[in-house]
Amino acid sequence: MLRASQQDFENAMNQATLTMEDPGSKVKLKLYTLYKLCKPEIWHCLKKGPCTMHKPGVFDFDNKAKQDARKETAMDLKSSLSSSETSSQGKGGADKKAQESKDILVTSEDGITTITFNRPSKKNAISFQMYKDIMLALKNASTDNSVITVFTGVGDYYSSGNDLRNFINDAGEIQDKVTMCAVLLREFVNTFIDFPKPLVAVVNGPAVGIAVTLLGLFDAVYASDRATFHTPFIHLGQNPEACSSYTFPKMMGSAKAAEMLLFGKKLTAREAWAQGLVTEVFPESTFETEVWTRLKTYAKLSPNGMRVFKELIRNHERQKLYTVNAEECAVGQERLKSEEWKDALRNFLSRKAKL
Ligand code: COA
Repeated sequence: MLRASQQDFENAMNQATLTMEDPGSKVKLKLYTLYKLCKPEIWHCLKKGPCTMHKPGVFDFDNKAKQDARKETAMDLKSSLSSSETSSQGKGGADKKAQESKDILVTSEDGITTITFNRPSKKNAISFQMYKDIMLALKNASTDNSVITVFTGVGDYYSSGNDLRNFINDAGEIQDKVTMCAVLLREFVNTFIDFPKPLVAVVNGPAVGIAVTLLGLFDAVYASDRATFHTPFIHLGQNPEACSSYTFPKMMGSAKAAEMLLFGKKLTAREAWAQGLVTEVFPESTFETEVWTRLKTYAKLSPNGMRVFKELIRNHERQKLYTVNAEECAVGQERLKSEEWKDALRNFLSRKAKL
């Protein structure tokens, strides 16, 4: 997993120095920009950890615009450096490849395909485009050489769930995308139901909404002790999705599932583990090392065996999961027309309420 830091700039410089050929003006320009961006208030956007940066006030349009532009540039640079690093590594190894997408990074290495939410400036909120990119990434991963497929996030969040701005047009008005949303969501969730290989979530930080509900369709969920699990549908005029109305009560019992899905209780990583949503919790300080070491070991197990066992487990429930998904999407379609939802969206946009 690539985490951007001062070290990345130095690595990029070393790579460029070692290259026999001139890297070209585009690469040189990126290096120069990276150098210029190499200061704390930009690096915090790329690194893990809470934001300590001064935020311009709501009406400080000038500085907010400049800050947004700097964040975007930093994110773009990080994405392009990540993908160019992966592609260049891929030249030497047959099982390495990268999918070009700004907000979803896909890498394949050591028998593991990793799909990474890469939109840390928005807490990895999932835009419509990202839903499509993820479906494509899963489709590719189902037939590539990898043994295990892993989801994780860049930055301090795993993912803040559905991008609430998916429903807003450029003029800031709520858009009627009800049917399109229901169709996209149904197809998206079915892709997870049908995924044939072991699917693992490496939950590096807080997870919200669909980033949580989807976990019921994963085979293993490893969480940092910094992670939290929140499904605030009741505050949003929304309903549980990704088959969680079926998988959560089955996993944790109806009383505990109700606390999460009906009352919007936020769980710590350890609570989520106690309720069966999380496989294992690791201290933040050793999380990455321990989890990736373990996953590399698992990726050496028999790919065919794991496929067959997964199919055996999933086969009993596949039809049930399709039905639940269809029902949740139908209910969601109605909820998206409700005033409750529209009010919640307006609140979020005006930032009167934080969940
Ligand atoms: N949809 C759209 N934008 C989101 C988002 C989401 N789900 N989650 C975060 N963002 C954006 C914020 O609007 C903000 O954008 P800005 O910098 O342009 O103002 C940016 O990400 C950073 O988030 P911010 O709210 O400043 O960070 P925070 O640490 O104070 O709070 C959250 C983080 C996730 C608690 C808060 O953003 C939130 O409640 N998001 C909504 C989560 C949600 O309801 N998801 C859907 C569930 S169904």
